[in-house]
Amino acid sequence: MSESTLPAEDVPLFNPFAEGFAENPYPQYALLRDQAPVHEHPLGFWVVSRYEHVSALLRSGASVEDRNITPGPLSELQQAAGDSASLVEGLSMLDRDPPDHTRLRKLVSKAFTPRSVEALRPRIEQLVDGMLDDIERQGAVDLVPSLAFPLPFAVIAEMLGTPPTDQLRVRELSGLVVRSLEPVVDPELLRAIDEANDELTGLVADMVAWKRKNPADDLFTALVNAEEDGDVLSDDELVAQVLLLYIAGHETTVNLLAGGTLALLRERDQYAALVNDRALVPNAVEELLRYDSPVQQSRRITLEPTTIGGVEIPKGAFVMAVLASANRDERRWGPDADSLRVDREGARHHVSFGAGVHHCLGASLARLEGHVVFDRLVSRFPELALDGEVTWNGRINLRGPETLPVSVR
Ligand code: HEM
Repeated sequence: MSESTLPAEDVPLFNPFAEGFAENPYPQYALLRDQAPVHEHPLGFWVVSRYEHVSALLRSGASVEDRNITPGPLSELQQAAGDSASLVEGLSMLDRDPPDHTRLRKLVSKAFTPRSVEALRPRIEQLVDGMLDDIERQGAVDLVPSLAFPLPFAVIAEMLGTPPTDQLRVRELSGLVVRSLEPVVDPELLRAIDEANDELTGLVADMVAWKRKNPADDLFTALVNAEEDGDVLSDDELVAQVLLLYIAGHETTVNLLAGGTLALLRERDQYAALVNDRALVPNAVEELLRYDSPVQQSRRITLEPTTIGGVEIPKGAFVMAVLASANRDERRWGPDADSLRVDREGARHHVSFGAGVHHCLGASLARLEGHVVFDRLVSRFPELALDGEVTWNGRINLRGPETLPVSVR
């Protein structure tokens, strides 16, 4: 019999509602990898938690389009609350299979090549230096609102060329919208997500009208021009791509910057290693991405019966690939998989940016932001320390600190 069989009653199930999960899901992931690496959840979705299986699933031809899901208890709950269970009505590239995916991704990929991204370095350095100047003046701050959120938000807003907006409102709305990427059973929360989705979609639709009147040399204008061509991008697709970039540009990187700083401050010797040798920073960023994945899960829908780890998953199944668990799988990383080691060899083989055709389009940008932030942080604040209670954002997927109080001396 395969070791990856369906769980019996006494075998653990993925349970994001368990006490303490938001603060530390890793002990549960370890149990799943050992005892139920491929299993079906009573809510009707499947969970895959080992590196080998996660990686194979993401690279397989499995779908991302919701219309291929055989309805189950979770999708019925979500439908009842009016939620489409996907970002921006399923029209963004994240929710489309080839050939639509290929067409949509091609339209924006030029802006994200390593070369185009590298050109942003001076501006990112300038933004980070300004934020660190403010932090130095204050001495003690919450690092989330003073650096981890405003930096990626400013960068993506400038890249797109969005009009001035109420940042806090956008953050509030996108914080709700990204919860459509995780299992939610609370009907009130489901309704709030749906309303936030509508409001944010409306906001971006208004931005499209503004951009038509205020074209510039930016990504948004390039997309508006593609939409005007008609045969490459429809009106709704335009709104969906901008919204995806807008949200993905900051809701993920905030967790790398805040969660990464927290991990380094908790493992003080690793922070000290960077203070002593800043050349380690690029590898440290990969290790931080591995150690605490800013995006904890990805999902696929099987288009045919699919065998993973000896278990047959039926056609039309919603399968959650737990990236964060794969990144801690001792079968892949060895016995010290749970340790943070900024000099870990091969750290970049993590699956934090996914794999296959949907591999994160913004990976070079996220890496660059990480390099600049951690380089500047360790060189300017060698004595950086935690200075109060850390709270978590309570999310299952785009998980990270909500507050991160630190002092710089
Ligand atoms: C896709 C993670 C930053 C834009 C993805 C996926 C993951 C991911 C896991 C794949 C989802 C899947 O396979 O279903 C991350 C992490 C980030 C980050 C951990 C930061 C640390 C960014 C940034 C941007 C961005 C800064 C853009 C400004 C995108 C886009 C996709 C994507 C457009 C969809 C790609 C496709 O479907 O082809 N990201 N991301 N991401 N990401 Fe990121």
